[in-house]
Amino acid sequence: MKDLTPAPGDLSAIEIASADELSSLQLERMRWSLNHAYANSSFYQAQFKQHGVHPDDLKCLEDLARFPFTTKQDLRANYPFNMFAVSKSQLRRIHASSGTTGKPTVVGYTQKDLDVWAEVVGRSITAAGGRAGDMIHNAYGYGLFTGGLGIHDGAERMDCIVVPVSGGMTERQVTLITDFKPQIITVTPSYMLSVLDEFNARGIDPRDTSLNVGIFGAEPWTNSMRQEIEQAFDMHAVDIYGLSEVIGPGVSMECVESKDGLHIWEDHFYPEIIDPETGEVLPDGEQGELVFTSLSKEAMPIIRYRTRDLTRLLPGTARSMRRMEKVTGRSDDMIILRGVNVFPTQVEEQLLKCKDLSPHFQIELTRDDRLDVMTVHVESTIEGAASDRRQASAAELAAHIKNVIGVSSKINVSEPGKVERSLGKARRVIDHRPEHNG
Ligand code: DLL
Repeated sequence: MKDLTPAPGDLSAIEIASADELSSLQLERMRWSLNHAYANSSFYQAQFKQHGVHPDDLKCLEDLARFPFTTKQDLRANYPFNMFAVSKSQLRRIHASSGTTGKPTVVGYTQKDLDVWAEVVGRSITAAGGRAGDMIHNAYGYGLFTGGLGIHDGAERMDCIVVPVSGGMTERQVTLITDFKPQIITVTPSYMLSVLDEFNARGIDPRDTSLNVGIFGAEPWTNSMRQEIEQAFDMHAVDIYGLSEVIGPGVSMECVESKDGLHIWEDHFYPEIIDPETGEVLPDGEQGELVFTSLSKEAMPIIRYRTRDLTRLLPGTARSMRRMEKVTGRSDDMIILRGVNVFPTQVEEQLLKCKDLSPHFQIELTRDDRLDVMTVHVESTIEGAASDRRQASAAELAAHIKNVIGVSSKINVSEPGKVERSLGKARRVIDHRPEHNG
């Protein structure tokens, strides 16, 4: 794999600023953001008043804990435009989440917001080892989803060449990668596996492509998956995180030279970790729910937004800004199986230990005689594998899951290509249990 470590001159001044410089900028911006939200959004004004707080109460960064949380329900209740703090004439773009249940969550951007977004995505591409002139094969979905256009604008800002492929049409993805010879691919990790299958189906060695680095995010993925993809393509695989409510991709980014968690671009997005049960702020290093406050966003300031993503904050390494550990899962995705908490990423980790099984998987939950049953649907890598070989793979995976996660599971090993494929975010869990509507 190529050494892609950026030169010191490639980093922006704030990325190498001292802790004091950063925190004084954060405090100044946090004051601005709270005042802007209070003065221009009837939602925040009502919320702050109800909690008996005023933007002037913020004397230091820790005072943020006195302000109320914002949740996805708040965004839904204010559908479509009531969270906005600027007039329509100042808006330049709208995005929305797909909203599998209920109304989609709508977010808006002014021109300045789009500029900040392009800047942080550009910073993220630099952290991944990208440089001006690189070609980026962008297979994140274009449209209301923030992935496609968010990466696109950041890549152009970096003076890269963008190939706006979007998701889907996997054969064409492989043709374009082979013919155009991009250095960088941006795509969800689960869809990258489909692209890998297509390379193999065509008999093209994926290690021979021009790709140096993949920027993967929008869904949880494990370090085991990183190794799998890095080996298959002989390229670096780095993690990008973000959410539409905060801005989109580029809230935090892993550095290619360290691959030790994601540096949060804290000059624009202020992180806290809270106890999801009590809402209490936890010290750095402790695991909990990630909460964000925007520091510069105009169109839709977001104050103490509960992401439901579980992680912890760690000190800076390759950059001075703090890191967040790779997200293991969302509290929403946590499966409680006979009292044991299970995340799909834990199953992914065990699956990747089984050499006769491909990395594609889906978990089905059912209730059998008042007992919850977890069935993991996986595929053999071997076309027409004998049934005893498939049974052996199933037993191997079941044993790993039992030994490491501590739950019994049924394993259904099918022929290659039978597990549902995603074009973007993978649907990992299908819940058929009576009180779950999944
Ligand atoms: O997924 C933005 C994005 C696009 C990020 C492209 C990275 C790359 P939403 O559709 O609003 O935005 O979904 C946000 O996806 O709260 C996490 O649960 C999950 N997520 C995003 N990135 C990661 C990641 C985009 N790197 C939700 N690891 C977030 C784990 C992630 N989960």
